[in-house]
Amino acid sequence: MQGLAASSKLSLTVVVVAVFLLGLAGAAHGRRKLVSSANDEPCKKMTLYYHDILYDGGNNTANATSAAATEPTALSNSTYFGMLVVFDDPMTKRKALPVGNELPTARAQGFYFYDKKGSLNSWFAFSLVFNSTAYKGTLNLMGADLMGERTRDISVVGGTGDFFMARGIATLRTDAMEGLYYFRLQMDIKLYECYV
Ligand SMILES: *[C@@H]1O[C@H](CO)[C@@H](O)[C@H](O)[C@H]1NC(C)=O
Ligand SMILES: *[C@@H]1O[C@H](CO)[C@@H](O)[C@H](O)[C@H]1NC(C)=O
Ligand SMILES: *[C@@H]1O[C@H](CO)[C@@H](O)[C@H](O)[C@H]1NC(C)=O
Ligand SMILES: *[C@@H]1O[C@H](CO)[C@@H](O)[C@H](O)[C@H]1NC(C)=O
Repeated sequence: MQGLAASSKLSLTVVVVAVFLLGLAGAAHGRRKLVSSANDEPCKKMTLYYHDILYDGGNNTANATSAAATEPTALSNSTYFGMLVVFDDPMTKRKALPVGNELPTARAQGFYFYDKKGSLNSWFAFSLVFNSTAYKGTLNLMGADLMGERTRDISVVGGTGDFFMARGIATLRTDAMEGLYYFRLQMDIKLYECYV
């Protein structure tokens, strides 16, 4: 009995010391790095919808959240080659746009431009800015949006705040196109490096 008590005391001491040391290691680095190598096992995953409401040059100034900042070039006007669009778009968990005072889950702030002569193709660089009770911080995304493909991957190159140093992939899929001035993308954001 006494032997048992002594050994459980010893193991308790070991556990306490180990926890203390882990605590120190944690404190030294602040966060723990999680790296996932399996495609289907990201360390964090979320699906958000990106709503691009383009300024139509006329009546939708109250509603629009993006605007062409340059004209297409004469090189290939039909594919908008060289046109750059700056956006501050709402990102939502569901497909619907926020109504009334409802806040979006995040804002997508950045730009895309059209970069192909023969067909429509674009390139994106933007931050997802989170400022809610759920998340505060940014995720930074960039890459080619190969518009001919049903789904295309762009890189999550970094993050800040709750997404400190995050890296991963965002899979984009065009979910809706309404006329020339609205489209919606589904973004499946999968992080493979998380610091928690
Ligand atoms: C703006 O509204 C006017 C009047 O309803 C309409 O004639 C015009 O075509 C609209 N402009 C655009 C760019 O939608
Ligand atoms: C804003 O634009 C979106 C996309 O075209 C449309 O669905 C929505 O009804 C518009 N909202 C208002 C208030 O005009
Ligand atoms: C490109 O097309 C637009 C709309 O059709 C037109 O207004 C513009 O003048 C054209 N630009 C060039 C450089 O051809
Ligand atoms: C974030 O939200 C807080 C509280 O609603 C607000 O005071 C602050 O201005 C917001 N920051 C940004 C960058 O939007």
